[in-house]
Amino acid sequence: MPSVSPAESAAAAAQRVLRVGVVGCGVMGAGLAEVCARAGREVRIVASGDEGMARGRRRLERSLANGVRKGKITEADRTTLLERISFVTDLGDLADRQLVLESVPEDEATKLEIFTALDKVVEDPEAILASNTSSLPIAKLGRATARPGRVVGVHFFNPVSVLPLVEVISSLLTAERTTAVTEAFVTDVLGKEVVRAGDRSGFVVNALLIPYLISAIRMLESGFATADDIDRGMKLGCSHPMGPLALADLIGLDTVAAVSQALYEEFKDPAHAVPPVLSRMVDSGLLGRKTGRGFYSYE
Ligand code: 3HC
Repeated sequence: MPSVSPAESAAAAAQRVLRVGVVGCGVMGAGLAEVCARAGREVRIVASGDEGMARGRRRLERSLANGVRKGKITEADRTTLLERISFVTDLGDLADRQLVLESVPEDEATKLEIFTALDKVVEDPEAILASNTSSLPIAKLGRATARPGRVVGVHFFNPVSVLPLVEVISSLLTAERTTAVTEAFVTDVLGKEVVRAGDRSGFVVNALLIPYLISAIRMLESGFATADDIDRGMKLGCSHPMGPLALADLIGLDTVAAVSQALYEEFKDPAHAVPPVLSRMVDSGLLGRKTGRGFYSYE
């Protein structure tokens, strides 16, 4: 947002955010690019390499094809959306971005490195640097830059194109203006709903969701119930759209394990400890839907 006047409303500033960068094109990154492009924004995605770029493009194309099949967008929309999204492999290509959404795996060192680099690369001092982290402190990401006031958490939910919620997280260092413009962008531009959350691990939703998923995994691990009974129980008995094990597969078992670990480190509550079976599945590359096998198989 070049030359923002302090008198300009947050809503007006959000409307002027036209160039968005997305770092990471996994399940969440591809979804973020899609919703920003749908909102008419020009999106540049930074992939980790050629292979990651090809995978990200396939993800995006699959989701858009799904959108067409479900009647949410037309064939013509699909072509326009793909034209609005470009893929690069160099963070340096984000120099002209007004908003950057970081969405790489939940590894603190990697995220810190990315924020340090973004701070050097993104030219507009008013640009917002946002993280889609589920569990890491926004304050630490802010401290990795020389502009912690412009660093904020924006936590989307999977599938991004379908679920309406975004948690907006301010650290103790985030400027109120940054939070207000981010919130206006998420609601007015992307058409999502916001819950504001404090800067502690898990924010609101994962602090409730992850212990539930872990309890289901422990129940399975102990042999007390089958995967099918656990999932059918929660679907049919509590009207959840999917059971906890299917949901863990959808989120990605590496992400579930990483968020559990971060919650455990923050609160030291045994309810957050990663169950051994989950650790072994991650060690084995059985990460759920994205690798074709988790608690279920996806051929
Ligand atoms: N674009 C737009 N809309 C789409 C779409 C697309 N690409 N694909 C599907 N949709 C729409 C459908 O049209 C439908 O909308 P409608 O009801 O208005 O017709 C709706 O989305 C549901 O889609 P489907 O009918 O294809 O699929 P299901 O009914 O089987 O629902 C699901 C699939 C949305 C995944 C549902 O099972 C669900 O909501 N599951 C729970 C997901 C969840 O809890 N996610 C949160 C994970 S936690 C997280 O992400 C945080 C992280 O930090 C851990």
